[in-house]
Amino acid sequence: MPEAALAAFLADNCARLESCLEQWLPPAGTHPARLHEAMRYTVLDGGKRIRPTLVYASGQAVGARQALLDAPAAAVELIHAYSLIHDDLPAMDNDDLRRGKPSCHRAFDEATAILAGDALQALAFYILAHHSAPQLDAGVRLQMLERLASAAGSRGMAGGQAIDLSATGRQLNIAELEDMHIHKTGALVRVSVLLGALCGTATTDKQLEQLDHYAKCIGLAFQIRDDILDVEGEVLSLGKHTGMDQQREKSTYPALMGLEPARQRARELHEEALDSLAGFHGSADPLRWISLYIIERER
Ligand code: IPE
Ligand code: IPE
Ligand code: MG
Ligand code: MG
Ligand code: MG
Repeated sequence: MPEAALAAFLADNCARLESCLEQWLPPAGTHPARLHEAMRYTVLDGGKRIRPTLVYASGQAVGARQALLDAPAAAVELIHAYSLIHDDLPAMDNDDLRRGKPSCHRAFDEATAILAGDALQALAFYILAHHSAPQLDAGVRLQMLERLASAAGSRGMAGGQAIDLSATGRQLNIAELEDMHIHKTGALVRVSVLLGALCGTATTDKQLEQLDHYAKCIGLAFQIRDDILDVEGEVLSLGKHTGMDQQREKSTYPALMGLEPARQRARELHEEALDSLAGFHGSADPLRWISLYIIERER
């Protein structure tokens, strides 16, 4: 039963992640208190935690020790949380609901939200550098920092967000749309899988390539499903408003090709993701379950 098995895998790893985040975020009340409150408000107890779960799942697929995966798992979630704060700002998507509660700039104020995003990004790199030492080889840690920086930056997520904004109000073709999705969402998903794989001591180049291909497929499928849910999802389960993409004339899969072809494209990507795990045994099953979950999720 993949659903029950995935639920157990999620519960186990999310509990680990939650306690690391709780420990590694500056405690509530730390000066300057409002900024730290906004950081904790955004990060703790919210979201599906897909990216950190991918770190754990990919690490498991290559036999990495679970304890090594905590720092990269926390780091990718913090980069993600920062990206959501900035994504919701009036200058970007102007969304006031996130994870079922007021988005950060609504709960606090815009300046605090901008700073909370900045600080979460910095904290992600601090955690990756600091908390994975000394268990992980310094060379591997440096490689992880480099890859995360590249995935978050102008050639990755931030670049994708820039493409998204410049595409608002005009129609992209499929290749341009895919390019935008691969950057704004795919880059962080991809690096999540990579960081987990780098924690294995005997990961081969071939395995890295296979996992990377898997990650590219599910990263794109993830944003396609996000676009579909903006059309047909329920606010209550999603925890964010729906219909916003159309209202803002965003380029999305359903807008460009229609709902059913978008679903079909997501299914194809799921199959391709599974194919790319050929040769991996049962330890890669969580990656397989996550891929299915991504295209079927309702939240
Ligand atoms: C939402 O990501 C933003 C996208 C990149 C599509 P998630 O759907 O993973 O958001 P949370 O973390 O579960 O809230
Ligand atoms: C956001 O994409 C991607 C990010 C890098 C945060 P969306 O703008 O579609 O995400 P939602 O729908 O607001 O969660
Ligand atoms: Mg956006
Ligand atoms: Mg948005
Ligand atoms: Mg969206």
